[in-house]
Amino acid sequence: MAQHLFDLTGKKALVTGAAVGIGRGYAVALAKAGADVAVIDLDEKTGQKTTKEIKSFGKNSIFVRCDVTKKDQVDAMIADVIKKFGHLDIGVNNAGIGILGGDLEFTHENWNKVINVNLTGMYLCAQAEARQFVKQNPVGGKIINTASMSARICNCNASYNASKGGVVEMTRMLAAEWGTYNINVNSISPSYILSPMHASTPLEVRARIRELTPLGYVQRPEDLYGPVIFLASEASNYVTGIDLLVDGGHTLNAWLTPLHREVPPRISPEQEIAQLKHDLAAMELPFDENGINKSLHPEIANAYKTAFGLTEN
Ligand SMILES: NC(=O)c1ccc[n+]([C@@H]2O[C@H](COP(=O)([O-])OP(=O)(O)OC[C@H]3O[C@@H](n4cnc5c(N)ncnc54)[C@H](O)[C@@H]3O)[C@@H](O)[C@H]2O)c1
Repeated sequence: MAQHLFDLTGKKALVTGAAVGIGRGYAVALAKAGADVAVIDLDEKTGQKTTKEIKSFGKNSIFVRCDVTKKDQVDAMIADVIKKFGHLDIGVNNAGIGILGGDLEFTHENWNKVINVNLTGMYLCAQAEARQFVKQNPVGGKIINTASMSARICNCNASYNASKGGVVEMTRMLAAEWGTYNINVNSISPSYILSPMHASTPLEVRARIRELTPLGYVQRPEDLYGPVIFLASEASNYVTGIDLLVDGGHTLNAWLTPLHREVPPRISPEQEIAQLKHDLAAMELPFDENGINKSLHPEIANAYKTAFGLTEN
């Protein structure tokens, strides 16, 4: 029975921001559970590689280039997916960005960029997917949005954290409205994941994350395979409007008592970065052992270094 509950054979899914990182992880997980998956991203070259990988599992996969902030592109993307797949069962709205900077200096332009992708883009995709599900009724469908633990803790800046708080509340509202069409709307909140977004995380910061996380290792996209399959499958048919926090206990806020491990964590530091190495290779970018990737977000490493008082390696 358990196998049947989580089986996605015959289901058609789309994942936005699926070229690399968390979105690529979702796409791989859904395909491994049996779904055909459309990879939606701005980055066509890398996204095509993800599509090829999914096909190697024996599932159908297409790439559709789409900027999720543009309504006409979102509508065209859904039409393209339906043309190729015939119908849609699962929409995973994951594309997101973060722009560093303190809120006294943060520009209006950067605020708009973050809110446009993280909140407006997710809304436009959810709306277009729901309209498709309504056309296909009575089957309904599953919508899964990527929020973040940043909806609950203060760790970036107002634009990023407010956008993620917005995703959680938008998810609840849409779930309340669209349950009547057999549409489930839920979100997943990861913690810190070493995706290309966080490629520039110094070793000292990774060690600190392990120290402050009861399960003792830095999260990987693979840690979201189970949660996304659960929310996409029949197993979650009566679950709607929730934010599924997947953080290894990080937000339990265990900072006062240094965590003492009785046994080694399930995942080693080398395993934490396996997916990041894969993604950077797909993007044709170098991997930096010290977590300071000069080609991708070096400003994140610099911000961490200032915050932690670290010197250059
Ligand atoms: N990495 C983390 O620690 C972390 C933690 C919690 C939540 N998140 C969230 O998870 C999601 C994925 O993050 P990630 O770490 O994999 O990021 P990433 O930067 O590694 O990958 C994001 C992908 O989204 C694509 N993208 C960006 N803007 C787009 C747009 N306008 N239209 C279409 N595609 C677009 C990029 O091309 C890229 O392939 C984001 O919503 C992010 O906020 C990330």
